[in-house]
Amino acid sequence: LDNGLALTPPMGWLTWERFRCITDCKKYPNECISENLIRRTVDLMIIEGYYEAGYEYVGIDDCWLEKARSLDGRMVPDKERFPSGMKALADYIHSKGLKFGIYEDYGNLTCAGYPGVLGHEQIDIDTFVGWDVDYLKLDGCYIEPTEMDKGYPDFGKMLNETGRPIMYSCSWPAYQEDKKILPDYASIAKHCNLWRNWDDIDDSWSSLESIMNWFGDNQERIAHHAGPGHWNDPDMLIIGNFGLTVDQSKVQMAVWAVLAAPLLISADLATMKPEFKQILLNRDIIAVNQDSLGKQGLRVITKKKIAVWSRELADGSHAVAFVSHRADGAPHATRFTLDEMKLPSVQYEVVVSSFYK
Ligand code: GLA
Repeated sequence: LDNGLALTPPMGWLTWERFRCITDCKKYPNECISENLIRRTVDLMIIEGYYEAGYEYVGIDDCWLEKARSLDGRMVPDKERFPSGMKALADYIHSKGLKFGIYEDYGNLTCAGYPGVLGHEQIDIDTFVGWDVDYLKLDGCYIEPTEMDKGYPDFGKMLNETGRPIMYSCSWPAYQEDKKILPDYASIAKHCNLWRNWDDIDDSWSSLESIMNWFGDNQERIAHHAGPGHWNDPDMLIIGNFGLTVDQSKVQMAVWAVLAAPLLISADLATMKPEFKQILLNRDIIAVNQDSLGKQGLRVITKKKIAVWSRELADGSHAVAFVSHRADGAPHATRFTLDEMKLPSVQYEVVVSSFYK
């Protein structure tokens, strides 16, 4: 989408994978979806150096709404969990230099069953603009995937007409891929800044592997649609949670960098262990992700269960990541020729990122 935003993949933080739809603040005071969680995260993004490293958006995913709209048809944030309201929260986020992201759903209901935007498009867009929203994730539950080819562009056009630059994250192709409908990625790239292609990520290596496999298996169809202003989105970073080891976390960060993927951390920054934080803040890998050429990399070869991912960068160099899917324990030496890695046969200076040591 040519709205001046996301010239490199967006970076930030999003509630969903880690905090899900936790709404019981009595039982889970530090984990429920609430203004306290957002404010705490904003503070930690600054204090702990995430903002300085480039993470800019703070996003509330599903479960922020009251179950009913107001009498005049407006969305109402949960009164107990967001007592100050969204405008005040946005003001706090902006006062720290960060940007405000929010979630809604194009259908009748959000995936977790809160009111969706269908039939209320204009009033909801006006509400978001009134709250100074900078980023909207528009999900696709409770609507036919066949209606999305028109619905998502129409909604995007209305967003654009407000004059406020709002990053537009679409879930349009994910629902179509799921139903084996071939998405029109050219149209999606024209109308969205980023889009979810496939399954939700869960907190496990098997979920991460299945997403990497999908992006590798389908790269011929999708990779060339990524570029400045429009990105494929393999879903949130789960680094710093419970399911990945340190090495597995490096894999996610490296492959997301090669994929030119949005870097949206979904983890509790208050309990983040230093070895995971180091991965999220690794300047070399972030630089690959944010490379100005904006060319999504590819899985160039898999041999003996070791995949090689490679991405061309603006200065003519290549970022290469080796990902082992082996489970046999001992180190395994494998040889890859330049040809196999689809790299031109010239002399290279190999720089091994501190990340791998
Ligand atoms: C869908 C999306 C997730 C998350 C949930 C919220 O499953 O794909 O990323 O937004 O809905 O209910």
